[in-house]
Amino acid sequence: SLIPLRPLMEATIKYGFGQGGFNVNAVAQAKAVIEVHEMFRSPAILQGADLANGFMGGRIDFLNATLEDKKAGARNIGNAVKKYGMDSDIPIVLHLDHGRDFDSCVAAIEGGYTSVMIDGSSLPFKENIELTREVVKYAHGRGVSVEGELGVLAGVEDHVFSDSSTYTNPLDAVEFFQKTGVDALAISYGTMHGASKGKDVKLRKEIVIAIRECMNHQGIFGALVSHGSSTVPKYIVDEINDLGGKLSNTEGISMEQLTADIGAGINKINVDTDIRLAVTRNMKEFFEKYQEKRNSGSIGAIYERLETMKEAFDPRVFLPPIMD
Ligand code: G3H
Ligand code: 13P
Ligand code: NA
Ligand code: ZN
Repeated sequence: SLIPLRPLMEATIKYGFGQGGFNVNAVAQAKAVIEVHEMFRSPAILQGADLANGFMGGRIDFLNATLEDKKAGARNIGNAVKKYGMDSDIPIVLHLDHGRDFDSCVAAIEGGYTSVMIDGSSLPFKENIELTREVVKYAHGRGVSVEGELGVLAGVEDHVFSDSSTYTNPLDAVEFFQKTGVDALAISYGTMHGASKGKDVKLRKEIVIAIRECMNHQGIFGALVSHGSSTVPKYIVDEINDLGGKLSNTEGISMEQLTADIGAGINKINVDTDIRLAVTRNMKEFFEKYQEKRNSGSIGAIYERLETMKEAFDPRVFLPPIMD
C-alpha cells in the first residue's frame, strides 16, 4: 500500500535504521525498485525528481518541462505506483525529489505522490521558511508529507553547479523545523550529487550529531536526509568502461561513512547516480554479452520460437532484464 513519508521516518527514528530513497525516471524502474524491496522485506521510497516528472509526462527535452508536463508525468507515475501498491504487501512512499516551486509540489500531489520535497535551499533563509511553510500547509491538509532543504551541497544540484558547499547550521535547522513544520530536512554536511564527488570525500558527521542534539534538546521529532549519497561502485564503473564506456573521475561515498552517518542521526539516504550507473552497465552488458541466450521467464515466452535474443527487436523484452 501507499503511505506518506512521515510514518516511515518515525520508524527509522524509533528503531535507528536508515531508509534508502531511490530515484526513478520510468514506470519500469519503479517496478524494479519495488520488487527489490519486496525481496528484502523492506518498505520502499520511490523518488521522482521534479524534471523526471516532466520527462515521464512526455517531455523528452525534460530541461524545458512545463508545469503541464510535470502534471502529466505525476499522473502517469502516480497511477502506475498506486496500482503496484495495491498488489504489494510492503509500504511504498512516492516522493517528489527537489520540487522547485509550490506549483510543482501541487502537481505531484494531484498526481498521487504521497510525499513532496520543496527545495528552497537556494533562497535566503526567511524566504525558504515562507515557501516551505506554504507547501507544508497545503500538503499536510491532504495527508502528504514534506521534506525541506537547508544548506548548499557542492557539485551539480538541480542542474546548477556550486563550487563549494555551505554546511547546515544546527541552530538554523531547529528554527526551520519549528517554523515550517516539515517532516524531514535535507542537510548539507559534505555529500554531493553526481558521480564525481572528489577523492577522499570527507563527510562532517559531527554536523549531523550537532543537528540531532539541538533537535533533541528542543524536543523536535523530525527526519534528517542525506542527499548525494551514491557509493559509485568501482566495479560497476570498471564494467561500463570495459564495455566501451568512458567514465572518469568517479568517486562516491563509502558504505562505512554512510553507516556511521545513520548512527549519527540520518534517516533517509538519497540514491540516483548508482541506479543510473547500474542501468547503463546492464544495458551495455545485455547487448554485448547476453544476446546469445534466449530471454527467460514469461517475458521470454514472446520469443519462444527464437534460438537467441539476436533476432529480437522488442524494447518491451529488452527493458525487464536491464531493469533487473
Ligand atoms: O538530486 C537530483 C537527482 O539526482 C535528480 O536529477 O533532476 O537530473 O532528474 P535530475
Ligand atoms: P546521488 O547523485 O549521489 O545519487 O544523489 C541523489 C540525490 O540526492 C537525489 O535527490
Ligand atoms: Na538544493
Ligand atoms: Zn538530492
